[in-house]
Amino acid sequence: MERDALEDIRRYLVARRGSGGEVAYRVAGEARAADGSRKPARELVMITSPAPRSDGAAAGQASLFGEPVRKRGLDLSGFDLASLDALVSKCERCGLSGGRTKTVFGSGNPSSRIVFVGEAPGREEDLQGLPFVGRAGQLLTKMLGAIGFAREDVYIANILKCRPPGNREPQEDEMTACEPYLLRQLELIRPDMICALGRIAAHGLLKKTTALGILRQGMHYYNDIPVAVTYHPAALLRNPNLKRDAWEDLQKMRKLYDEAAGEGA
Ligand code: URA
Repeated sequence: MERDALEDIRRYLVARRGSGGEVAYRVAGEARAADGSRKPARELVMITSPAPRSDGAAAGQASLFGEPVRKRGLDLSGFDLASLDALVSKCERCGLSGGRTKTVFGSGNPSSRIVFVGEAPGREEDLQGLPFVGRAGQLLTKMLGAIGFAREDVYIANILKCRPPGNREPQEDEMTACEPYLLRQLELIRPDMICALGRIAAHGLLKKTTALGILRQGMHYYNDIPVAVTYHPAALLRNPNLKRDAWEDLQKMRKLYDEAAGEGA
């Protein structure tokens, strides 16, 4: 993405920070270069939803932290990461508990300024109780390294803490049952940025069903935390043609992360 476009996004994100409104961008159209040739567009199109009312009455992301947790009769406000992990390990809030070997709470640096969120544990993760340790995980480690993050320096979690049978897609009721745990994790870690890995993570966090190809071109908010979206490493293993786009996503994300972390410093 062009430097100017990134700069526009950065300024807009800073301006909208805390508004709770959702923001997405895409670069569209074509432009004519000085020599008359056509080049890919640099026009920035903003897709925004109205910011929630300041009295918090709109059931939007502004009140996401805490509220749904209590609404569902699960007040996790007294839990730190260790006690939450222990609670999750005994969880029976959905049918997946019956089939799991281990819960996969999350791993990495709890002081990390960035959190990567995947979909759900696979076979290896279920056996080891750790996220992203199978083939997709090895690729994720490489992807992180390519943008200068050591795996142990970031925090990695999933939308679901238990493995769906046969690695099928998470179901709505399972995602709903598991959501309070991730909410509390993010509330405790308070990262400067979240990276959603794949469609399920993006849809679960953003409560949208927009196509991944569109979502990855924008920047979004989860509460007031910027969320970047990219392909799931498993999708890159299945379709290596996506790697080029994923590399662009990662570079853009790293740049915005550096800026967000710099502002917070
Ligand atoms: N895929 C995921 O989404 N999460 C994991 O932990 C492993 C594979």
